[in-house]
Amino acid sequence: MGFKKDFVWGAATSSYQIEGAYNEDGRGMSIWDVYSHEPVKVFGNHTGDTACEHYHRFKEDVALMKKIGIKAYRFSVSWSRIIPDGTGAVNEKGIAFYSELINELKENNIEPYITLFHWDLPYELHKRGGWMNPDSVKWFADYAALVVARFSDRVTNFITFNEPQCFIGLGYYKAEHAPGLRHPVRDVFEMSHNVLKAHGAAVIAMRKSARQNIKIGYAPTGTAAIPVSESAEDIAAARKLMFECPALENWTWNVSWWSDPVVLGHYPEEGLRKYKDYLPEITEEDMRLINQPIDFYGQNIYQGVYVKAGENGEPEVVEHTAGYAKTAIQWPVTPECLRWGPQFLYERYRLPIYITENGMSAHDVISLDGNVHDPNRIDFLARHLEQLEKAADGGTDVAGYFQWSLMDNYEWACGYSERFGLIYVDYETQQRIIKDSGYWYKTWIENHS
Ligand code: NOJ
Repeated sequence: MGFKKDFVWGAATSSYQIEGAYNEDGRGMSIWDVYSHEPVKVFGNHTGDTACEHYHRFKEDVALMKKIGIKAYRFSVSWSRIIPDGTGAVNEKGIAFYSELINELKENNIEPYITLFHWDLPYELHKRGGWMNPDSVKWFADYAALVVARFSDRVTNFITFNEPQCFIGLGYYKAEHAPGLRHPVRDVFEMSHNVLKAHGAAVIAMRKSARQNIKIGYAPTGTAAIPVSESAEDIAAARKLMFECPALENWTWNVSWWSDPVVLGHYPEEGLRKYKDYLPEITEEDMRLINQPIDFYGQNIYQGVYVKAGENGEPEVVEHTAGYAKTAIQWPVTPECLRWGPQFLYERYRLPIYITENGMSAHDVISLDGNVHDPNRIDFLARHLEQLEKAADGGTDVAGYFQWSLMDNYEWACGYSERFGLIYVDYETQQRIIKDSGYWYKTWIENHS
């Protein structure tokens, strides 16, 4: 069977991680601008002020995409670049940037996939309470409507939120990402409820402002649970673990809490029970708002945990063996996550699945011959795509795969110390070099299109 004929082979980035030009052409500040400028928040005090200078070099970058042969490019819009205060006046220069980028992509036959929110909340909205403010639902819906009104003449695929687990969990609960806060858990649940409502309100607003039929998706994340064997017991245990609601201190690392409301229209029972003392008021009307029909389900999948059926069939995590394979950022290499992750998600949500991100950071360097040799990434890709193909063969409706990332970029709290790209970026000179894995991916795409 293999991958579908029209399978979407792409690569992904996000605005703050690559654009730079943080104070040019009327762009407003985001929480990441403010956070990264504070001492000792980010590795090496790195900021996204310049990043990959993609704002000025987007034509060169699209030419590189073309050279690698990707069919689709997933990027995010910086909210404060197009609405500097988050609400109100529109910055036409910001709109013009994305408009030109889209034109360049279309001219090169690369399909744009727009993510509306990849973590860079306008700082002015943060000052008004950010996601704690119930008005955030409308702020986001209005912003989403604007993006769709301006770009849906040429763009038909939109994604609302990227990894709410991370921007809420790491940003407002664990103080590891902007805005670097540790809110009481009750507030964190309230924010998450507002984010889900904002998703639903945005879907309604986007359909209204669309200039043609558009497809809307969502891109949460989660660790995939991998059964250690094909036995029915191990598979059932893994499935259970994948959707389990973790203990309070880790509750944001949760697949079902963030996705069941969106696709199934209700929070998971287990979570409602476990977290009941900390939840805001949740009305039926809220649930109807959150549960808007969407067209595809995206999931960012980087790793998995191995699971077996323990006592009474309960899931038991199987530790990695000594000396197990890991990436530069220390994440375990677990290729089967791309088989079981999508399979379990498809069983539960019954929507076409995109792997909206998958990839690895490696210790890439420019070799004496001037090239960037990254055999580890080639091996990683080959192993993961082989497993993804197994998911497709097993009947999971896999629609596309986006490699993270198109190019090395600002890895949030790790600054520029982690390299995830198919393209190497020298941050001193802004020189780009396609890595061996980029050429490997090109051949892969040619053989699977
Ligand atoms: C998920 C995030 O969406 C992206 O911004 C980040 O760079 C990658 N994972 C790698 O950590």
